[in-house]
Amino acid sequence: MNIKKKVLVTGGAGFIGSHVVRLFVRKYPDYEIHNLDALTYAGNLENLTDIENEPNYRFIKGDITDQPFIQELFEVHRFDAVIHLAAESHVDRSITDPLAFVKTNVIGTMILLNAFKSCWEDSFEKKRFYHISTDEVYGTLGHTGLFTEKTSYNPNSPYSASKASSDHFVRAYGETYGLPYVISNCSNNYGQNQFPEKLIPLFINNIIHNKPLPVYGDGNYTRDWLYVKDHAIAIDTVFHKGVIGETYNIGGFNEWKNIDLVKLLCQQMDEKLNREKGSSEALITFVKDRPGHDLRYAIDASKIKNELGWKPSVTFEEGLGKTIDWYLNNESWLSNVTSGTYKSYYKKQYG
Ligand code: NAD
Ligand code: TYD
Repeated sequence: MNIKKKVLVTGGAGFIGSHVVRLFVRKYPDYEIHNLDALTYAGNLENLTDIENEPNYRFIKGDITDQPFIQELFEVHRFDAVIHLAAESHVDRSITDPLAFVKTNVIGTMILLNAFKSCWEDSFEKKRFYHISTDEVYGTLGHTGLFTEKTSYNPNSPYSASKASSDHFVRAYGETYGLPYVISNCSNNYGQNQFPEKLIPLFINNIIHNKPLPVYGDGNYTRDWLYVKDHAIAIDTVFHKGVIGETYNIGGFNEWKNIDLVKLLCQQMDEKLNREKGSSEALITFVKDRPGHDLRYAIDASKIKNELGWKPSVTFEEGLGKTIDWYLNNESWLSNVTSGTYKSYYKKQYG
């Protein structure tokens, strides 16, 4: 096989990363895809069993905060490009353990930037460092308006502050050292393989087990939801067509108030589980609000749409249906990831 590019994907055993790895391994047989992941509670190699034996795929277990290891890895492999997804990603965990987020999201990103820089600083030609970020760096919107690429950063949670900080360092390495970067900031993702601590998979799992659905505050918080496979396609688009030094907002053009989303989810679950209409909704329980809870996120994704030709392909109703079907058909995946450490987290978070 004639290898055209060596690509390092970090966090490829996680939710979004596994969809990105699969897409790249299948679509680009002449790329060598190296998946570097520490396999934290959120990383799961079961997500990738279908492609684990492909000749252009390699898994490397390792931690992006381990500087000597990362430095050596780059010296040995000399990756042409990095798609950096590895992160601590859950807002509620960042409230109880902010330092873990600084360590992985800020210091880990710096360590990758330094290794990439020392590998290529003689000539960055045809090289690319792609940093995957979130719309949460912009803080919160009121009831109107949209986040554009020009919205100033105003993070409110330790998670979003750590992602904002990492975005700044990526950009600063571009300005200071000429490091060729692109950044994308995406809205809330949903879909198969998402760890059941985030809203949608947590509630699917709870409905299956007839457990309460803990809606924070009054449920009138708004998020813009994107199907994870559409995000993976957007990442492919930005990776290949994005202009160096630019950032791209990615979103679903799909805003939902939490309470309305949860009610739609409940209706679909009742139908799919052949349960009496209204039985899942009866599980809704309003609980204490999240501290610093951002009211509303909504993305203006017109830049990536107009300049790179990407738009979401799946409607929310369709994507949600597919997501529920996947969780119902993969109960062993769910029970494997909900055993052990996740149970103690759940107890701490919800009592
Ligand atoms: P995830 O928590 O499901 O996966 C994160 C992965 O990173 C896991 O496989 C984990 O093992 C790995 N990881 C964590 N710490 C590591 C370390 N120190 N070294 C190596 N690997 C490590 O996260 P996700 O939802 O797939 O998010 C992926 C990226 O996309 C993150 O950077 C996140 O900020 C960003 N993002 C997520 C969303 C979303 O809705 N999930 C939206 C926008 C942006
Ligand atoms: P989440 O999936 O944690 O994503 P993010 O905080 O990154 O947006 O939460 C989505 C929304 O759902 C957010 O407004 C918080 C809310 N939420 C609940 O109401 N209850 C829950 O148990 C969880 C996990 C989230």
